Amino acid sequence: MRIILFTGKGGVGKTTVCAATGVACARRGHRTLVMSLDIAHSLGDSFDLERSLMDDARGEPVAVADRLWIQEVDVEEEIRRHWGAIQGYIARLLHTSGLERILAEEIAILPGMEEVVALLFINRYAREERYDAVLLDCAPTGESLRFLSMPTALEWYMRKVFRVEKVMVGLSRPLAALYGVPLPERGYFDAIRGLYERLDGVQALLGDPAVTSARLVTNAEKMVVRETQRAFTYLCLYGVNVDAVVVNRMLSGEVGDGWFEEWKALQTKHLAAIEEFFRPVPVRTVPLWRREIVGPAALGALAEALYGTEDPTARLHEEAPLRFETVDGRPVMRLRLPFVSGQEVDLGRSGDELIVRIGGFKRHLLLPRSLAGREPLEAKLEGRELRVTFAGAGNAAETGVK
Ligand SMILES: Nc1ncnc2c1ncn2[C@@H]1O[C@H](COP(=O)(O)OP(=O)(O)OP(=O)(O)O)[C@@H](O)[C@H]1O
Ligand SMILES: [Mg+2]
Repeated sequence: MRIILFTGKGGVGKTTVCAATGVACARRGHRTLVMSLDIAHSLGDSFDLERSLMDDARGEPVAVADRLWIQEVDVEEEIRRHWGAIQGYIARLLHTSGLERILAEEIAILPGMEEVVALLFINRYAREERYDAVLLDCAPTGESLRFLSMPTALEWYMRKVFRVEKVMVGLSRPLAALYGVPLPERGYFDAIRGLYERLDGVQALLGDPAVTSARLVTNAEKMVVRETQRAFTYLCLYGVNVDAVVVNRMLSGEVGDGWFEEWKALQTKHLAAIEEFFRPVPVRTVPLWRREIVGPAALGALAEALYGTEDPTARLHEEAPLRFETVDGRPVMRLRLPFVSGQEVDLGRSGDELIVRIGGFKRHLLLPRSLAGREPLEAKLEGRELRVTFAGAGNAAETGVK
């Protein structure tokens, strides 16, 4: 199964490009699902479907053509169905004052439940092998990418939770109450465990460039390009391969009459900058249509402009964002992080995890076993990469050095 994410700033044409890709995938014979993670769903509109049809589906996939389904995830419905016990406990916790800092931090992660719902679906579809391609129409950049951090964040959270559970077994409730936080009920742990199992493996799917690619949709305008760069950085941080940048709404040579000349010159300039910024990631362009793009026929035409005769599920570019190697006998972790400066990156260490923070985004990198016990000696941003050098093996003098 291929998973392709479409993301980019608001209004650039994500839904349109994602839906068009879906049409092209299905025409090529792939069983394709286009899934919307945006709360303000517009997939149904893009396919020109009656609103009631999508509403009746209550968040389940709806067939729109041969081998093509669309799904507008109903987050509230999913949370109600599977998350009652967890949500109840979180709510109680949040109402308790005087939380320990560490606990408060753990809880701070969970407001991303909506995103987890999407991951649960993806994992389920991958396990069931129901589709050949799952295309994700993400909400505008920023918050939409947080879901990529959910598997590692949740794994981290759950390991803590299971530890708490172990402690609890040997603890009587009145005694536990001394800690000053309400203790979760049995159902909470069961729900968390169930969730954990259903999410198992999704991180590997997202981090595998053979399975998952992200396509950044943008317009050739200054403000939009900035946002696209940020999205690229976060995708790298979460280990997701970006295989194309799609520049939508390019004015073609046919657009005449002088009024748009300045726009065209600006677009040409920004397009060149985009190609330069994202190299070696391929940059594709889509022209501005004469009218809005609604319905399968128009979407199909747009897909043709974008992919030509190529299979849209093909990997258009592949580059692993995270690599490990040995330099002068020391292990080095290389994380591709374009468009960030040294001041923006913050590194932390907790047990066998390296915590990389960029602005509001944080990734817990579970270090490979061979690195887990070693101290990071040096972290440097070199060109487009963050390089973290760890203490060499068997060199006692080096371990323990900050
Ligand atoms: N190349 C194009 N030519 C003409 N119209 C386009 C083109 N691309 C998108 N549109 C139109 O622009 C509008 C917005 O596009 P779309 O909904 O795909 O953007 P979006 O990035 O998904 O927006 P949002 O951030 O709100 O989800 C739609 O009406 C769509 O038909
Ligand atoms: Mg949209």
